[in-house]
Order: sequence, then structure tokens, then C-alpha cells
Amino acid sequence: MLAKKVNPPGMSGTKQEISPTYSLRYFTESIPKYHIPKDGMPANAAYQLIHDALHFDGRTAFDIGSFTTIWMEPEAQKLIMENLGKNFIDRFEYPETAEIHQRIVNMLGHLFNAHEQDDFCGTATVGSSEAIELGLLAHKWTWKRNRIKQGKGADKPNIIFGADAHICWDKFARYFDVEPRIIPMEKDRFCTDAKSVMERIDENTICVGAIMGTTFTGACDPVKEINDLLVQVKENKGWDIPIHVDAASAGFILPFINPQLEWDFRLPQVRSINVSGHKFGLVYPGVGWLIFKNHTDLPEDLIFYVNYLGDDMPTYTLNFSRGSDMVLAQYYNLLHLGRSGYTKVMNNCMNNARYLANKLTGSGIFELVNNLELPIITFRFKKTPDFAPFQLSQKLRERGWMLPAYNLPENADDMTVMRVVVRETFSRDMAETFYDDIVKAYQTINKTEMEHLRPNVPPRRGHHVT
Ligand SMILES: Cc1ncc(COP(=O)(O)O)c(C=O)c1O
Repeated sequence: MLAKKVNPPGMSGTKQEISPTYSLRYFTESIPKYHIPKDGMPANAAYQLIHDALHFDGRTAFDIGSFTTIWMEPEAQKLIMENLGKNFIDRFEYPETAEIHQRIVNMLGHLFNAHEQDDFCGTATVGSSEAIELGLLAHKWTWKRNRIKQGKGADKPNIIFGADAHICWDKFARYFDVEPRIIPMEKDRFCTDAKSVMERIDENTICVGAIMGTTFTGACDPVKEINDLLVQVKENKGWDIPIHVDAASAGFILPFINPQLEWDFRLPQVRSINVSGHKFGLVYPGVGWLIFKNHTDLPEDLIFYVNYLGDDMPTYTLNFSRGSDMVLAQYYNLLHLGRSGYTKVMNNCMNNARYLANKLTGSGIFELVNNLELPIITFRFKKTPDFAPFQLSQKLRERGWMLPAYNLPENADDMTVMRVVVRETFSRDMAETFYDDIVKAYQTINKTEMEHLRPNVPPRRGHHVT
């Protein structure tokens, strides 16, 4: 390419320097990676340095295995930016934010079908993990209080959940010293069932976990079946065992696309529910919600009252300070979308999920592992090829797609699956491009593997090799 002479300023108007971001002396000297630099650098230089380094991160839109929100509207972003410095815990200073928090808890209590007489309560959390840990902790305390009241031992609590549960359930058991009784998966069963719960339950069971939309396959546990069993147990043995529903994903999906399905506070043993605002609540990370069916499900001993910020304020969280931004962004979505807006978004996600799932199964290469109760497609190879799904995932990474491939938990761990979470931002166009790319990647690896496996024997005379 032929380069031409650049005229001095004034004649052509062309700038003679490159951006000071790169030409200042700050970048002529190395900057320590793991120590705070002795002197700082201009704001634009710091920005550019970090901005450039982040090119090595994947692109969020291509992270198709993730549940969390990657896009919000400009008005939501404006609200977030305007409120970045507001500490959520300072309710005396920011009473309107506290009022908005209260409104959201109420909206969710009603969304999860609390009865008129239910005196529900709840809190914002950083995500579903914090919400689950707090929910289960409350059930442990209720159990302990009842045992002590009855003059019985309270040192051997246990909790029942499936191997399909998110790791935060195991964390709870270990951090809060509760024996986990885990229901393993089977080759043809990827969630819990009432019979398996029954086999593990006893008077020391603090709670039974039910997952609506498991992280592994997106399947839903049969909450109603488990509820009916626990109602019977209560009648026959007097053990009032609560269910905590982990609706991290489904809590913002099922009420809109399948409102008849009973999994929430309509069931008497469901005493607490968590949902991630930053998943299908359509808010950026990190906000989650924990709702108790009744304030009596949260023992008073666990509530701390803080008055040194100017008000006598009850708190039930693991941390103290946190941003207000995502709580306000949640309120924005609830007001802006309303029930009909959420229903449209979720139906759209479902339609795109069905569309991609049909294409994947139609290829003859893949088969579904779940039955698409939610817009989460879990699939595997129909016929085991000579390469692992991890290789397919790696190949797709060359195009930017981040497709998780992983083994299912114990008992079904010889099964490797892949997962696409169809979020609001995953369009029909993206589904088509992804489908073309996954088939191409499969064919490329398959061809290479076949050539690799083919014995290197020269063709016999008189035979044609096609
Ligand atoms: C079913 C389920 N429960 C809990 C969690 C943890 O949620 P968070 O990341 O909001 O803490 C997840 C995360 O994917 C999940 O899928």
C-alpha cells in the first residue's frame, strides 16, 4: 500500500500526535502488575489500559451457557449510574430506596401467590446463593427452637436436597453444620422425587429443597408431589417440615408462562422461595430475593436491629453495605414491563429455545436431555462420536461461542451434556448462526478424527479410492 505525505496542521487539519493515552511517559515505563504503582496515571490512561486488557475476556453475548443478564435499557442504565454511590443499608438516609425495596418484596410475595392471610416478608440479597443460605438458616433455627421447646436434642440437623442442586446448597450444609442428605440422580432421572425424599426424612430434617430449573439440566423438581408427602408426614408424625424452593431461574419465568403450575406459596409446606433478579428478573448482577411465606418462618433471633444510622432498622443479610443500584433496576423492570411485558419476554425466550432445540434435534447429531419446561436447552450427542463434547465446545470457542460442556453429578456422571440458556438477548438470528456453527464444528472435528483413525494403507492396484 502506498502511503502519502501528511501535511502539517492548518493545511490538512490532521492531528500530529497520537492520543496522549498511549504517548504519555506513563506507558514508557512498566507498571507493576501486583503492587500498587508508586504514582498514579491520568484517568484516560488508566481507563485505556484496563479497557484494552479486557479484550481478552469473552464477549458476554456469546456466553450462551450463562443465566445472568447482559443487557438493560438505557433508562435502566441511567438509573443505575445515578444511584451508584447509594449504600442500600443506609435506610435512614435513603428512605425512598427502602420504600422501593419494600414494594418489590410485596410484588414478589404476590407473584408467588401468597394467600391474603399470609404475612410474608423478605429481603434483597446479592444473589440466589445468599438468599438460599439465609432461607435455610431460618429453617434450621425454627427446627432448633421447636426441638428445645419439646425438650429434645437439637444437635443433629439434616437437610434433604437432590444432587441436581446448585453448589450453594452444599455450601450451606458445610458452613452451617447441617448433615446433607443428597438424593442422587439416576440415568433416567435428573431431579428429585417424593419417594427418595421419604426414604431420607426424619424428625431432625430442617427442610427439604426443591429446585425449579436446575443448574445442570434446567429440569424442575416435583414440588407439589413433595409438598403432598410432607403434608401427610405432618398429619401422621407431627413433623412440620418446610420446603425451600430454589426458583433462581424459574421464579421470574413460570408465573408468567405457566401460572397454573403449583410450586409456590399455594402449597402449604412451601415456606420460603428465592429468585435471582439478575437471571430472568432481567437485572444486571448482583441482586437476588428471598421471600418467607410468613414472618413467623423467620425467627426473631436472626433479625438484627441497627439504630446507629438513625433509625431502628431490621436486617437479615449476610453482609452489611451494598449498592442500591440493582434493587432500583429491579423496580424499573417491574414497573416498565409489568406482568404483560415479562410474559412477552419469557414467551419469546421459550419460542427461541424451542426453535433452536428443534434444529439441534433435527440435525440428527444431538438429542435433548430435558423437556424444555424453561428456556434452558440441555443436549448431548445422539450417537457417541470419537471425540468428547469438550472438544466441540473448544472448537466453538474459535468463533467466540462459550458453550459449557460438563458431566452430570454422580450416578449419571458418565453423561456429558451441553447447555444453552436462551435469554432475552438470544435472538432467532443468533440461534441460526449458532446452529450453523455447531454443526460445522462437529463436522470439522469428525472429519479430522476420522482421518486420524483411518489406517495409512496404500490403495490396492485396480481399486479406486473415492
Ligand atoms: C438453581 C440455582 N440455584 C442457585 C444458583 C446460585 O445463584 P446466584 O449466582 O444468584 O448466587 C444458581 C446459579 O446459576 C442456580 O442455577
